[in-house]
Amino acid sequence: MTQPPSLLVACPLPVGASSPPPADALLTCRFPCGHTTPGAWDAGAGAVTCEVPLGVDCGGARPATSSTSTTTAAALAAVATVDVALPPPAQLPAPCCGGGKSCGPPAVETPPSPLPPTASCCGGRPCGPGTVITSPQASTPPAWMARACVDGLADNDIAGKVAWVRADLNVPTRPDGTVADGSRLAAAGPTILHLLGRGARVVLVASHFGRPKGPDPALSLAPIAPELGKVLGLPVAFTPASTGPAVAEAVAAAPPGSVLLLENVRFHGGAETASDPALAAALVPEGLVDLIVNDAFGAAHRAHASTAGVAAAALATGRHAVAGLLLRAELAALGRTLCCPRRPLLAIVGGAKLSSKAKVVEQLVGHADAVCLGGALGTTFLAALGGGGGGGGEGGRGASFSVGEGVEEAEFPAARAAAAAAVRAGTRLVLPVDVVAAPRAASGAGWDSARAVTCPATAVPAGFTALDAGPATVAAVRALASTAWTVVWNGPFGLSEEPAFAAGTAGLAAALAPLAAARGVTTIVGGGHSVAAVNVAGVAASFSHVSTGGETTLELLEGCVLPGVAALEEGPGLAGVCD
Ligand code: 3PG
Ligand code: MG
Repeated sequence: MTQPPSLLVACPLPVGASSPPPADALLTCRFPCGHTTPGAWDAGAGAVTCEVPLGVDCGGARPATSSTSTTTAAALAAVATVDVALPPPAQLPAPCCGGGKSCGPPAVETPPSPLPPTASCCGGRPCGPGTVITSPQASTPPAWMARACVDGLADNDIAGKVAWVRADLNVPTRPDGTVADGSRLAAAGPTILHLLGRGARVVLVASHFGRPKGPDPALSLAPIAPELGKVLGLPVAFTPASTGPAVAEAVAAAPPGSVLLLENVRFHGGAETASDPALAAALVPEGLVDLIVNDAFGAAHRAHASTAGVAAAALATGRHAVAGLLLRAELAALGRTLCCPRRPLLAIVGGAKLSSKAKVVEQLVGHADAVCLGGALGTTFLAALGGGGGGGGEGGRGASFSVGEGVEEAEFPAARAAAAAAVRAGTRLVLPVDVVAAPRAASGAGWDSARAVTCPATAVPAGFTALDAGPATVAAVRALASTAWTVVWNGPFGLSEEPAFAAGTAGLAAALAPLAAARGVTTIVGGGHSVAAVNVAGVAASFSHVSTGGETTLELLEGCVLPGVAALEEGPGLAGVCD
């Protein structure tokens, strides 16, 4: 039988893949049109070659006759992605720790000694050493953890007292300011109710909201007070300050059993984010606040005045500073799983908070077997590695290369450093293949979704911005996830809060959801917007763990000590839950 005529296309290996690929690797070329074909390593070309039948239309490049083959092959190669399959799970060695460390006996029921501040990572904070745990799924907290938690306090430590709770109420909101997903509010409830149930006179609840550099009425926590009240089934009064006489007066006037939500702690600007000890002391003044409870897992990776600083201030003055129920539950569920993940481990990172995430990715590559990037983060990496700006022009491949508007050039050095680290660590870095892009609306507000196009991620039309992942990108992540034993996802793959640009993130949620039940894969999703997306998709219950912390989860995975945890009573033990 005659084979249909086909074109031989040489496709570049993905950034981060070892070159040449391992001899037994399964190589597959994948095109935005959905066509996949087995590939073979061509040492001379330094690329993977694969055959595409003439007539197949891939990403707008249709191989028609062999006489046009040279141009078309280049066009196809520019839009193809190459999968280098990881070994199938069945052939993997027993679960073991990252960095080639061997596994030992299960954790013992004693708190580990404080971690030595040795190696530097996570922005200069000390890193914990790797772990020695055989059961990657263990989720029962060690008995000693109870002592470090609010439910380990004596009754008279709480009854009649003023408790100050740091929660993470940084919930995703809609453009009109209403709460789009209340998961973090619901998660904050049990600790507040626990304190009230044990007779606390007043519970002061503090949180950040967004990333203001100082006072910003648009980021006030005032609208969150009634929402928190709905979760608790109690009225929650709002205090338009987090320090000073306004707080003291509100506490004095509050009837017993009151919950008061304080104003956004980030209105203190740099004093909060640089953990100014004076601010920490002012947030929890002696004589007003009797005990500190940190329940903000989502912000525990920040060494801020309202996380680590207040704990130090309380302990220095003989007051309790303990973990809340949520913080303890998150550490118990994630600590061991992430410190000793079953491999291959796939990390999926999206979202738009580029200033902190590029650095997180650099740290991640040494811990994950593959890292898939999406959303604005993926676009910025693509632009940085493509050799230039996002708006158009000639990219590093010598072809017309444009990832569209909105890339943050300030993040290019961090993105390139992360890619270099991936190559050194042998971690696969997987970038977006295709995107849904749209121009700004004529009114100047929002996007013109009627003109949205799906296009290769490196061929975004001029004036358009990539706002969602395309189907080929989702398919590539799905294929990779099907070879992993542990999948950790933080950050949406687009503007998932807008229905026109939510399909990619929803597709990703749908792709990951069945893996836990069907194949026993550990699937973890964390962070405000990612959790909102799995809730909208109705698949949250299918994940192994849904975490209130996104970047916090990734930093635990990197073996970092969480400053908000380490500063607590028994903090070194809690922070070293991995060890
Ligand atoms: C989050 O949503 O990531 C947490 O609330 C922490 O916020 P941050 O990244 O602005 O510190
Ligand atoms: Mg964050």
